[in-house]
Amino acid sequence: MTTKTILVTGGAGFIGSHVVRLLVNKYPDYSIINLDALTYAGNLANVADLEEESNYSFVKADITDLEAMRKIFAVYPIDTVVHLAAESHVDRSIEDPLIFVKTNLVGTATLLQAAREAWKGAHDGKLFYHVSTDEVYGSLGETGFFTEETPYDPRSPYSSSKAGSDHLVRAWHHTFDLPVVLSNCSNNYGPYQFPEKLIPLFINNIRNEKPLPVYGKGVNVRDWLYVEDHARAIDLILHEGRVGETYNIGGHNEWRNIDLIKVICRTMDEKLGRPAGSSEELITYVTDRAGHDMRYAIDASKLKEDLGWTPSLQFEEGIAKTIDWYLENEEWMRGVTSGAYKDYYDSMYKNR
Ligand code: NAD
Ligand code: TYD
Repeated sequence: MTTKTILVTGGAGFIGSHVVRLLVNKYPDYSIINLDALTYAGNLANVADLEEESNYSFVKADITDLEAMRKIFAVYPIDTVVHLAAESHVDRSIEDPLIFVKTNLVGTATLLQAAREAWKGAHDGKLFYHVSTDEVYGSLGETGFFTEETPYDPRSPYSSSKAGSDHLVRAWHHTFDLPVVLSNCSNNYGPYQFPEKLIPLFINNIRNEKPLPVYGKGVNVRDWLYVEDHARAIDLILHEGRVGETYNIGGHNEWRNIDLIKVICRTMDEKLGRPAGSSEELITYVTDRAGHDMRYAIDASKLKEDLGWTPSLQFEEGIAKTIDWYLENEEWMRGVTSGAYKDYYDSMYKNR
């Protein structure tokens, strides 16, 4: 059996924690190194269940620090990088764009350079896997889907910094022959998502009977995928994806924000034993996000046809599971919303 030494960046974040968990549990012969700077979005509680596993280690480091990245490649015999570390929230990118440029662009280039130096052109069995977003393709009208051929048209500091990072990865492939693979995924939901993103924020606010801030008219459309299905797709592409290729990942599961929010409200009323309709009363329409992309929708047929991937969970099941998880893990929510979270929340929503 082939073994691997995989460096996962951003493994203490939302999606990264699911990727690390899947790899650690599924491949006992692999060595999985979780590298994370533990920003506000990174939390070791997300991977607490893995701490004692013999094929798992954690390193606190910043991907923009070239010396630190060189050291990690010198200490561990890394043959595979799965790169998820990023600044990931659109609203924050509007408030503070420069950290997105630093982490997503400078950080990705730094990691590429460290991998290139360490591998010294001996590329057999090596892979740099870059995890990206469908937001690089811009915004759709009422019809159509993003394919791997859709021209890039990012519109927020977040999506443009991710688009730039995709270009850097391809540049290191074309110029330096670095073996790379990329995937661009639609919106994820599930356990361990930081409650600045729509679904965990609204679940938490409903539980605490706080207003639900709906941007604009609530008619923007997102294509939602359960996070474990994204992790499964990453596992598949990592092992079977073709070097130099890009794969779109999505659930064919489009929802207007307001319709999705009403599903969450109804489910929460039932689960909390509150009168029907009480959570919907918390809905508050607020000033729209600047440059708010109207619609994202992924065509994932390449991934299905080439590698046989399909999502495993229907949305109704996924959202019920997700709500149950947040209701059962109040301690986790308290942990991540202590400290600076209140300041963030006040500054983000006070003038809307
Ligand atoms: P997240 O914000 O939950 O986690 C990001 C992680 O990166 C955190 O643990 C953070 O501490 C770490 N990090 C940030 N800056 C770092 C630095 N300089 N050095 C080292 N670590 C650093 O994000 P997420 O939602 O889990 O997204 C993970 C990746 O997947 C991102 O690249 C994102 O663009 C991409 N993606 C996310 C979604 C989504 O719906 N959340 C969809 C498609 C793609
Ligand atoms: P979000 O979870 O931030 O993901 P993204 O912007 O990357 O798609 O937001 C999902 C959708 O929900 C998006 O259209 C913005 C909207 N939204 C609100 O209406 N209110 C909120 O408080 C948040 C965080 C998002």
